[in-house]
Amino acid sequence: MSETARLILENQEIELPVITGTENEKALDISKLRASTGYITLDPGFKNTGSTQSAITFLDGEKGILRYRGYAIEELAENASFLEVAYLLIYGELPNTDELEYFTNSITHHTLLHENMKRFFDAFPIGAHPMGMLSSMISSLSTFYPESQEQNRSVTDIERTIHRIIAKLPTLAAQAYKHNKGLPIMYPKNELSYEGNFLHMMFGVPTEKYDVNPIVEKALNKLLILHADHEQNCSTATVRVVGSSQANLYSSISAGIAALWGPLHGGANQAVIEMLEQIKNDGGDLDKWINKAKDKTDSFRLMGFGHRVYKNFDPRATIIKKAADEVLEALGVEDPILNIAKQLEAVALSDEYFVQRGLYPNVDFYSGIIYRALGIPTDMFTVMFALGRLPGWIGQWKEMIEHSAPIGRPRQVYIGTTSRPFVPLNKR
Ligand code: SDX
Repeated sequence: MSETARLILENQEIELPVITGTENEKALDISKLRASTGYITLDPGFKNTGSTQSAITFLDGEKGILRYRGYAIEELAENASFLEVAYLLIYGELPNTDELEYFTNSITHHTLLHENMKRFFDAFPIGAHPMGMLSSMISSLSTFYPESQEQNRSVTDIERTIHRIIAKLPTLAAQAYKHNKGLPIMYPKNELSYEGNFLHMMFGVPTEKYDVNPIVEKALNKLLILHADHEQNCSTATVRVVGSSQANLYSSISAGIAALWGPLHGGANQAVIEMLEQIKNDGGDLDKWINKAKDKTDSFRLMGFGHRVYKNFDPRATIIKKAADEVLEALGVEDPILNIAKQLEAVALSDEYFVQRGLYPNVDFYSGIIYRALGIPTDMFTVMFALGRLPGWIGQWKEMIEHSAPIGRPRQVYIGTTSRPFVPLNKR
């Protein structure tokens, strides 16, 4: 017999169905609440509100668990390729050899952009932030593929759009970087891996042969996997809401990129490095900055610390911290910022303010240090996050479309002025 909860309101009592997930998470189904009671619920930031049931990613914030379709992030980061993980998130299973070959070949042969798009880049100022360019360019891609907007999109149309976006986002990202620096663009090379091709387009120059460094390629593969999905975070929820209006996938991903840019979300990886450099340039007085982060009258926050779900540790931060040591050693890179980050973590985690609030390093705290070691500039860090999160956004959008989710339209409680007559201008 299904569980229910009883809600007693003024003069009425109603029963609410209880939903139980496969990991025994519990939820009250309030989908009939307003119709049967006239009440709605209020939950700023949706801290206690589920927007959907999903079979893609499971997080346990207390135990620091993250699984994609049931596979532990630690195992995927160590053993899988990013395209295998992308396939898993989008289609639900790890691909077999034939499936992976088809998926990889299809993506490899969609990496080029329409030549007209070069003129779009020319319109951006030199130094334009790559995230602003990326969000605009991915949305403008939809104008070259109008079939992606049609109401009765076929499964083939949807699959081709998915492969095109996965193929073209690295090309757009690399071209955004080249434009930001005023450098000549590099065209994709089909013989390279997904990560190798991105590195070639980012760091290659037309006048010289570019050899992909296998250490960098492997580190990038791991970082992309660690960022690939994270259930209903701010940018994924944005992708779902935009997609729920039946806007095309390019526009939904563009909105997700815009949401990710914020320093409280994916923009934190850039903000962490800027914060660590500020602390270093200020003389490295860690206690001063920890006290600023605790001071409610000071807007300063410890960037890369805290998380809406993880109140113990972010398993991705643990993996990235270890990878940072390995990558910097393998590349022979000494970065004083890494030591400041480790010292700051130690000081914060011995401070009651952070421990009591469950504030631990999140995925963004150490990732920037690896990106720096790979030669990626700070204003490209959130672009790297977007490249990783892309298959998660796509998988969540596809799950929503396949379940014919209703358009996302939250309610509100009105607290403004009640009814009043219009006042003519000469009487105000
Ligand atoms: C990502 O949701 C996801 O899954 C996101 C993500 C993903 O993969 O998609 O994991 C990626 O966005 C990681 C988070 C990156 N952002 C940052 O590192 C920015 C710094 N952190 C925060 O601003 C904050 O911790 C959030 C935004 C991450 C979470 O904010 P919440 O859940 O709304 O928590 P809150 O702001 O209500 O904080 C609770 C308390 C408050 O203090 P009190 O009111 O209880 O006294 O903790 C304090 C906050 O002031 N607090 C911090 C802090 N983060 C929270 N105090 C100092 N420094 C911080 N970083």
